[in-house]
Amino acid sequence: MTGVFAPDAGATEAIDHILVVDFGAQYAQLIARRIREANVFSEIVPHGISASDLAARRPSGIIFSGGPASVHVDGAPRIDPGVYELGIPILGICYGAQLIAQQQGGTVGRNDRGEYGRTDLTVGDPGVLLLDAGVGVHGVWMSHFDAITAAPSGARVMASSADAPVATFEAPERGLYGVQFHPEVHHTPCGQALLARFVHDVCGCAGDWNMDSIIGSSVAAIRMQVGTGRAICGLSGGVDSAVAAALVHKAIGHQLTCVFVDTGLMRAGEGEQVVETFQKTQGIELIHIRAADRFFSGLAGVVEPEEKRKIIGELFIRIFEGAAGSIEDARFLVQGTLYPDVIESGVGYASMIKSHHNVGGLPEDMDFELVEPLRNLFKDEVRAAGSQLGLPDEIVMRQPFPGPGLGVRIIGEVTPETVAVLRAADLIVRQELHGAGLEHEIWQAFAVLPDIRSVGVMGDERTYSRPVIIRAVTSEDAMTADWARLPYDLLETMSSRIINEVDGVNRVAYDITSKPPGTIEWE
Ligand code: XMP
Repeated sequence: MTGVFAPDAGATEAIDHILVVDFGAQYAQLIARRIREANVFSEIVPHGISASDLAARRPSGIIFSGGPASVHVDGAPRIDPGVYELGIPILGICYGAQLIAQQQGGTVGRNDRGEYGRTDLTVGDPGVLLLDAGVGVHGVWMSHFDAITAAPSGARVMASSADAPVATFEAPERGLYGVQFHPEVHHTPCGQALLARFVHDVCGCAGDWNMDSIIGSSVAAIRMQVGTGRAICGLSGGVDSAVAAALVHKAIGHQLTCVFVDTGLMRAGEGEQVVETFQKTQGIELIHIRAADRFFSGLAGVVEPEEKRKIIGELFIRIFEGAAGSIEDARFLVQGTLYPDVIESGVGYASMIKSHHNVGGLPEDMDFELVEPLRNLFKDEVRAAGSQLGLPDEIVMRQPFPGPGLGVRIIGEVTPETVAVLRAADLIVRQELHGAGLEHEIWQAFAVLPDIRSVGVMGDERTYSRPVIIRAVTSEDAMTADWARLPYDLLETMSSRIINEVDGVNRVAYDITSKPPGTIEWE
């Protein structure tokens, strides 16, 4: 794809931007995020990139990230030394600073002990990076074993700590800057100002990357790409596809058609909400396909989780293909791919359809050109864009919901009856969480319907019914998760409402398993 915000070489050159060279850092994405918070666009490139490829992207500045290796180890990641000849300012962070020192006439010593965690930084000369912090002692976050013992040639030492004699160096004439600590983490209070000084004062970035400019430039890029063609967008009800659709609609209006497949496995009110938001409020052309019967007959008798997922994914594809076939000249497919998807999938910048997309994978042989207007944005940026585009909070702030829907929250056979029970219980969990004001603190909260029964007593009568399991987790990225410590009173309200209001349920349990060893979903 092409466009102002496409991360291919030559496309980002139109805007001020900073490239973060990743040396295997835990925090590379966080550095990019912080630069964006300073209103400058930033993206990550691998350390194997050549100096000429870096130059072709015309960044205003380069940041070398930290990394787990020691510069003294064979095979430790390096950078093409030609980078130092480009005349582009470079800031090294931790390993990145050590690498600059090693490659540019300084020395890196092996310490007997490392510095980890909060550390006192003594600033002798603030230079440009520590101008806001000033002379004095400041708390910073360190995480290193090796330490720079002599600054690169031409650089001055600006600050030090107990185990890092060269904790900050600056060589303005050579455009080389380094910090041993991590300015990108919240535990370094002066860090954000330091990064802002680098991108604004050293690199000369204007700082005009904001939601207005993101939306404006994306709209221009989409118009250029689609021209007079037509685009389709599968709406799942989730945040990413919703924001992508709203953005593309702003750009090309009626040339966009959205497709919403109602699988019968959606949460209460979900189908109506999507139709209301997109068709009625936003005026977007929407094909609403009611396909519950097809899903229920496909799933009849199936209990094995992977088999369920495959059936659901396959059905989605076939229905979606059918809908696309009826739209003349639909050459473009809008996807809500985010920046972390691009980075994590490790596909570079190739335009391909992700097999793990949220409808369970679109066919790889679809003859579409992709329109991915969010592929340079993080989730919170996407949410902000959604709000700016006028999408309601119920859409932009909603919790993640799996493509296979309630189908992977019913253990055993998925039938209209089991879905009805689960949907009613799930609605209560969501309503009560919302009522307690905890909706945005919790990554996901939902109900699960297992395929077991237990004995109970209600109104002097013996019951023998299913339980409902409440699952609520906190998480940063769904890769790991902790079970949420929901207040007992809240759990009690959820429990009694579920038992009183949902037929066929006589017991409620709370899942106290983290991920790992559990997963967030039960199937
Ligand atoms: P697990 O269960 O693997 O889930 O811990 C991690 C996150 O992914 C969501 N999830 C899915 N999302 N399609 C999706 O779009 C899927 O097939 C799917 N399966 C799980 C899950 O809700 C959680 O946020």
